[in-house]
Amino acid sequence: MTAFSVRLTGTKYGCGGGGCGACTVMISTYEPTSKKIRHYSANACLLPICSLYGAAVTTVEGVGSTKTRIHPVQERLAKCHGSQCGFCSPGMVMSIYTLLRNNPEPTSEQMIAALAGNLCRCTGYRPILDACKTFCKYTLPFLPPPYSPYITLFISTRLFSTDEFQPLDPTQELIFPPELMRMAENQPKRTLVFCGERMTWISPVSLDELLDLKAAHPKAPLVVGNTSVGPEMKFRGVFHPIVIAPARILDLNVVTHMDDGLTLGAACSLSLVKDILTNAISEFPEEKTKVFCAVLQQLRTLGGEQIRNVASLGGNIISRKSTSDLNPVLAASNCVLNLASKGRKRQIPLSDIFADGVGNNTITSEEILVSVHIPHSRKGEYVSAFRQAPRRENALPITNAGMRVLFEDGTDIIKDLSIFYGGAISTTICAKQTCWTLIGRHWNEQMLDEACRLLLQEIALPGSASGEKVDYKKTLIVSFFYRFFLEVLQSLKKMDPCHYPGVPMEYRSVLQDFQTKMPQSIQIYQDIDPSQSPQDPVGRPIMHQSGIMHATGEAVYVDDLPSVDGELFLAVVTSSRAHAKIVSIDTSEALQGPGVFDIITAHDVPATNEFYYSDDPEIIFARNKVICVGQIVCAVVADSDVHAKQAAAKVKIEYEVLEPVILTIEEAIKHNSFFEPKRKLEQGNVDQAFETVDNIIEGEIHIGGQEHFYMETQSVLAVPKGEDKEMDVYVSTQHPAIIQEMVAASLGVPANRIMCHVKRVGGAFGGKLLKTGLLASVAAVAANKTSRAVRLILSRGDDMLITGGRHPFIGKYKVGFMNDGRIRAVDTKYYINAGCTPDESILVAEVSLLKMDNAYKIPNLRCWACACKTNLPSNAAFRGFGFPQSALVTETWITGVADKTGLSPEKIREINMYKENAQTHFKQKLDPQNLIRCWNECMEKSAYYSRKTAVIEFNKQNYWKKKGIAIVPMKFPFGLGTRYLSQAAALVHIYTDGSVLLTHGGIEMGQGIHTKMIQVASRELNIPMSRIHFCETSTRTVPNACASVGSAGTDVNGMAVKDACQTLLKRLQPIINKNPKGTWNDWIKEAFEQSVSLSATGYFRGYDENMDWEKGEGQPFTYFLYGAACSEVEINCLTGDHKNLRTDIVMDIGCSINPAVDIGQIEGAFVQGIGLYTMEELKYSPEGVLCTRGPDQYKIPAVCDIPEQFSVSLLSSSQNPYAIYASKGIGEAGLFLGCSVFFALRDAVTSVRNERGLKNTFSLNSPLTAEQIRASCADDFTEMCCGWQDPLALLPVGSSD
Ligand SMILES: Cc1cc2nc3c(=O)[nH]c(=O)nc-3n(C[C@H](O)[C@H](O)[C@H](O)COP(=O)(O)OP(=O)(O)OC[C@H]3O[C@@H](n4cnc5c(N)ncnc54)[C@H](O)[C@@H]3O)c2cc1C
Ligand code: FES
Ligand code: FES
Repeated sequence: MTAFSVRLTGTKYGCGGGGCGACTVMISTYEPTSKKIRHYSANACLLPICSLYGAAVTTVEGVGSTKTRIHPVQERLAKCHGSQCGFCSPGMVMSIYTLLRNNPEPTSEQMIAALAGNLCRCTGYRPILDACKTFCKYTLPFLPPPYSPYITLFISTRLFSTDEFQPLDPTQELIFPPELMRMAENQPKRTLVFCGERMTWISPVSLDELLDLKAAHPKAPLVVGNTSVGPEMKFRGVFHPIVIAPARILDLNVVTHMDDGLTLGAACSLSLVKDILTNAISEFPEEKTKVFCAVLQQLRTLGGEQIRNVASLGGNIISRKSTSDLNPVLAASNCVLNLASKGRKRQIPLSDIFADGVGNNTITSEEILVSVHIPHSRKGEYVSAFRQAPRRENALPITNAGMRVLFEDGTDIIKDLSIFYGGAISTTICAKQTCWTLIGRHWNEQMLDEACRLLLQEIALPGSASGEKVDYKKTLIVSFFYRFFLEVLQSLKKMDPCHYPGVPMEYRSVLQDFQTKMPQSIQIYQDIDPSQSPQDPVGRPIMHQSGIMHATGEAVYVDDLPSVDGELFLAVVTSSRAHAKIVSIDTSEALQGPGVFDIITAHDVPATNEFYYSDDPEIIFARNKVICVGQIVCAVVADSDVHAKQAAAKVKIEYEVLEPVILTIEEAIKHNSFFEPKRKLEQGNVDQAFETVDNIIEGEIHIGGQEHFYMETQSVLAVPKGEDKEMDVYVSTQHPAIIQEMVAASLGVPANRIMCHVKRVGGAFGGKLLKTGLLASVAAVAANKTSRAVRLILSRGDDMLITGGRHPFIGKYKVGFMNDGRIRAVDTKYYINAGCTPDESILVAEVSLLKMDNAYKIPNLRCWACACKTNLPSNAAFRGFGFPQSALVTETWITGVADKTGLSPEKIREINMYKENAQTHFKQKLDPQNLIRCWNECMEKSAYYSRKTAVIEFNKQNYWKKKGIAIVPMKFPFGLGTRYLSQAAALVHIYTDGSVLLTHGGIEMGQGIHTKMIQVASRELNIPMSRIHFCETSTRTVPNACASVGSAGTDVNGMAVKDACQTLLKRLQPIINKNPKGTWNDWIKEAFEQSVSLSATGYFRGYDENMDWEKGEGQPFTYFLYGAACSEVEINCLTGDHKNLRTDIVMDIGCSINPAVDIGQIEGAFVQGIGLYTMEELKYSPEGVLCTRGPDQYKIPAVCDIPEQFSVSLLSSSQNPYAIYASKGIGEAGLFLGCSVFFALRDAVTSVRNERGLKNTFSLNSPLTAEQIRASCADDFTEMCCGWQDPLALLPVGSSD
């Protein structure tokens, strides 16, 4: 469904595959027999428009708008600061709104479940959930005891006021369109046929008709939710000329309660199945509902609500994906399928489908599934379902299982046993030999041992060539069975406590899965001075300037711009080889495609195709050879997005593979493949210090890359103006000036012909700089050649493939220390995987060195960094810029020293922390007073020591679940290393009606810069914020603006805005002095009449920063931010799953200009850090093809991942003489604090390893995924699966003592 043609652009495209929720809409249908209206949320990107016949679709525009009335959901999301870049906001609004339409007073569990399918990359979800809580029946306040003493005068915990909110009034909602109601009631149901350009959609109304159709078109799929067929057609090139939609057939929607169970129509949505099972469980005795409970268990986390609302039971079963969460449990439970084909009906047990081991048995292509019979469980029967996924919710499983056992009456002798697994191989698989062998056995330890052995023999997994998680899957296979064993043991005890011992107390907690609860949170900040003028907004938690626009969907992003006359769409053709010569490009077939206008190659670039910012170029179009998979070779322009993409797929490129193909850091080292220069810093005498220390450890840590996953993909609209070679470029970038420069250079025109416009950016995080310049040049070259406007909006898959991300990193370290924990010498080497072009990799390497000391004073220190040149897409800037990686290496050796000395990690941190005025390893002075304050406050507020004792106690009492806690300090230097990179300018106009138009060089990408700049202008001009407007950032108004990067936007642009406002005020001062009682408008009118200029520029020269790499000395930073975070987690040792229990952050950010925005930045960055360090995993094929190209395969944190208790406090009474109003730039720093979760997980793993007597010095890599956690909690099961006792013992960790 496309909203573009009807100009309803509020619904956003984030992934196109149902995985992000940005496109959520509400569908309403009317059922004339029951006279009921059903409202449900759905992902517009997968909804076939033909399926909406007779349905009403409500998009965010229908919920409320600034032109009519803003809906309470929109108002509260905005006012609770729940939007930053705003790209996810319409989807969030629609999920919440739909829930409230069905249930105006939901519980917090329902609310949090409603958001499981919506991703946000900016906020960290806390403020969104705050908005949600205001609608919930009952939510817990969060004010744990350690916080109470901190809530004093001038300290505030309120970021918004609920008094302002309009009440939710369900009577005010849009009604279901009466014409659709009449249509449903009066029109007899008839077969619908829709014919498109290439496809026919047939929707019959009777079963017989369906069977006829299926007999006539056996290859045509039945499409109900389109959540399986849709992604195959969109992403895997499957094409179906005929599609049959059976959803309106009554027989496929039956819900029948029978004596022996439930029969559910195959077209029932998974949500409906969930509701029916929930009701059945409350109605029937427990004994009969074991199957229902197990199925429900899987349904709770299967997809998000939007998916479950449309995906059908039959679709899940019949598509037979190995990742089906339902097939294993339904098959194990003896569910029966009612099948029909023309002239034939039959029943088969679902398990029969999987009996051949490849999932191909039994169902013919003419057969359809009418309904599914789910039986009641019987006395003495136990059923369970398990799953482990890369993220607890809305993620396809890595492995899942359904298990059922039936005992001989009143005994523990196995009468029947059924075990099915999913995710392990290409289909659901049955462990039938194992089950047969175990019949007649008692349910005891011997049976368990044999079962595990048999299971591993029977479920043979293919080898691990493609990086598949084979050992992990094997471990899960036996771990799930063990969990089932424990569950049944416990149930047997319940049945007969005298005969059966049950599960030992310390094992019991593993029987509970982690649940997602509505988090409790608190934010503490210093309130403004009571003497501050009420009009002065500085220091107040002001809502994001575009908050309401975000929530109403009115905020305009590049793809929302109306189409320009004659506009063309561009699709890129990218290299499929990592390193190869281009032998030929055959465009003939592509050019024949419908609507194709032209094909653009390097030959069409009028001037610069290669940009030399260093020795190696950044390239627009590959000319003779390709250097990575995903490099742009050419582009197709056509009359529509679809036509352009279809044609792009038809371009044939012949390659001749070149050697070597270098993908990893290790391979780059082997081939000596680096970008120059390599960097080094050194202080003290490292070699000598190593001679005198008590102990030395050596090790290395591998840190994976990270995809930016900004919600708005790269977007450009290039519009040639038709005269003087002028071109308007509307682009989603952090750096309009570089876009202008690159576009001008590629076209060979002066920069003054290229106008670059940026209204807002839907998230960037460092990913919209040079790469965007290349993409803008592609669009501009096409626009120049065709003399048409050209729109280039990357699909999520292409965006991930082409643009690179955070640099993968290897840190090698050697650390010398005394037995009392004092670290005397450190020698480290960092290798970053730069990819195929330099981009900013050398800078990233430099920053990683400059910030590697984190919070510690190391007297003798040597560190090296080099950027490896490989055949991966070029990696780029990413929030934190090398610091999150190098500081993780530092914290890793800190914990290594703790392990070795037997002291706690926090002691080692305290011992080595900067304590007094000191110099960094490059001789920059720093005063660490606020670092110590943050640390101490974080210790106190988190009640660290008492909670640590509680964690130890918990761990003593629980064997399979462990908790961990860690506290990590942070010093984050602020600066861009040189003056010219931090210069800034602003332009302020005052119009004769007194309104002010403000502009500056900063880009709004969610960080609230325009809001803060309006706050600054409001204070300086002493007028309310409402009189000041910000329109867009443009190269036309502010030339040569530096990139909005490095947390510096507010600092530098704020200075420029202040300067411009002060210039204006100075001009107005004589007029004000003459008429001090006059109003602003009086003064402006008077100024105009006196011919006083009402327009001024403001300028900031930048910070005096420098770094001499030859000497290894300098002042590359202007000031330091400080912080500390304490996190607590709980892990499940059997699966490696974990739950973030609590995080307390204390941050020194000087005097906050806007605490709501700043706390939002801290929380958002922190959650992004959780993603980096614990979940986000990029995977490449051995040929260098990125496999993780969408939210299905690449998991960023969702609502279920944020800590259950989450507090952020801004350090009070902190001043910063260097930045505007004593504030500090905060965009990036919080990300690193996400590693407190990494180290809390490490703590939990340590506790497991200590208990089990495993090697105590060990190393964990990032991201610390469930797979790694499971492997590090070595036990009998890992030994059975991996063949060694302790997989971590093999990791390269050594000690010289
Ligand atoms: C973002 C996302 C997340 C997901 N997460 C999960 C998850 O966590 N766990 C999980 O198990 N699944 C997950 N899925 C898969 C989803 O559950 C299935 O795609 C869905 O159940 C299929 O139902 P459908 O109605 O959409 O099928 P459709 O796409 O409409 O059809 C699927 C196939 O089934 C056939 N079919 C459908 N109905 C019948 C019938 N009555 N008779 C014969 N053939 C029929 C069709 O011919 C077609 O081949 C996810 C999907 C997406 C897009
Ligand atoms: S765009 Fe539809 S779910 Fe992502
Ligand atoms: S505000 Fe949610 S993605 Fe940006």
